[in-house]
Amino acid sequence: MKTRDVTQIALMTALIIALAFVPAIPVAIIPVPIVLQNFGIMLAGLLLGGKKGTISVAILMVMVAVGLPVLTGGHGGAISFIGPSGGYLLSWLLMPSLMALFNRLLSKLFAKTSFWNILISTIIVSILVSYAIAIVWISVQMHITLQQSLLANMVFIPGDVIKAIIAAFIAQRLLPIINKNA
Ligand code: BTN
Repeated sequence: MKTRDVTQIALMTALIIALAFVPAIPVAIIPVPIVLQNFGIMLAGLLLGGKKGTISVAILMVMVAVGLPVLTGGHGGAISFIGPSGGYLLSWLLMPSLMALFNRLLSKLFAKTSFWNILISTIIVSILVSYAIAIVWISVQMHITLQQSLLANMVFIPGDVIKAIIAAFIAQRLLPIINKNA
């Protein structure tokens, strides 16, 4: 791995941690807040791709596991993985490689990388896949039905769609520059 890759990974982890300083918005019906950190995870997948994106998120997860206050609101610790947000945290680790995979598939299917391919892969992974994992996790963790968990998680959709649109827009602008200098 080149110095340039290591720098990109470190900067991405730093960006995700910086987003933890944006205060969480609590949600009345579920003990999982609205946060901006998952926007950083979307960017990790889109800008760094599967391997480097996963490493940058994995570094964040190790920091959480050893108790560093790197999650929104300054929380951290292994307990975070078994709390109500545990499913989302697990999905964050999978998001970069899944986003890269869907992006590649859509680019092959439509023969080019467009804003829409980027946006669709971001929405498929950060909403469909990530929510599916979190909905099952929350249902088990909080002893509620899958339907109740599904309904409760719908509250995140508007915000996450907006984050996906902004992340796709940023990626479409930055990817040609990042790839040109690679
Ligand atoms: C944590 O800080 O412990 C993780 C919070 C996870 C919040 C999830 S990420 C996807 C969904 N969209 C949000 O804005 N919040 C939830």
